[in-house]
Amino acid sequence: MQFRIRQLGALCVLALSLSQVASGQQEEKTPLAKKMSAINTAFKAVGRQIDDAAQNAATLEQLTVIETNAKAALALEPEKKGQVPAAEQAKFVADYQAGIKQFLVTVDKMRAAIKAGKNTEAVTILDAMKDQQKEGHKEFRIKKAVPPAH
Ligand code: HEM
Repeated sequence: MQFRIRQLGALCVLALSLSQVASGQQEEKTPLAKKMSAINTAFKAVGRQIDDAAQNAATLEQLTVIETNAKAALALEPEKKGQVPAAEQAKFVADYQAGIKQFLVTVDKMRAAIKAGKNTEAVTILDAMKDQQKEGHKEFRIKKAVPPAH
């Protein structure tokens, strides 16, 4: 009996470690995803303090983080490229780069607004950035399968 319980325990440990390996592989980030994650963290910080002029210096620092990572993203290619027919891949990558460049223009606009102390205007620009994020993801990001509802 004790042997059985031990066997069962060993099996559980094995199953757990196997499932961890599987999920670990799923969560491995592409180089572009890493840049995007950095943009995401800085963008959330900006969102929290955008209307607070007392935080403008810190907001400008976060904008630099966003800009640096978006510029690095320009040199990378979306994973989805592999799902696009070969003949359309060059256009797909060019369109993606144009999307990132447009985003960089908006980052510049926000920087100008913050520097001028125009926080209300910066809030509007934040919405434009959210729209660009949404559009960029719709077009260039692989849609992850949604787990079935229970
Ligand atoms: C405020 C702006 C943006 C934020 C906060 C943001 C955030 C993110 C996040 C959190 C991810 C998932 C990363 C992960 O898998 O861990 C992601 C992925 C991605 N984003 Fe963005 N994003 C923004 C703008 C954009 C724009 C403008 C584009 C394209 C024009 C874009 C293209 C992509 C692509 C292609 C991926 C998938 C990564 C890959 O293919 O390797 N994103 N983004």
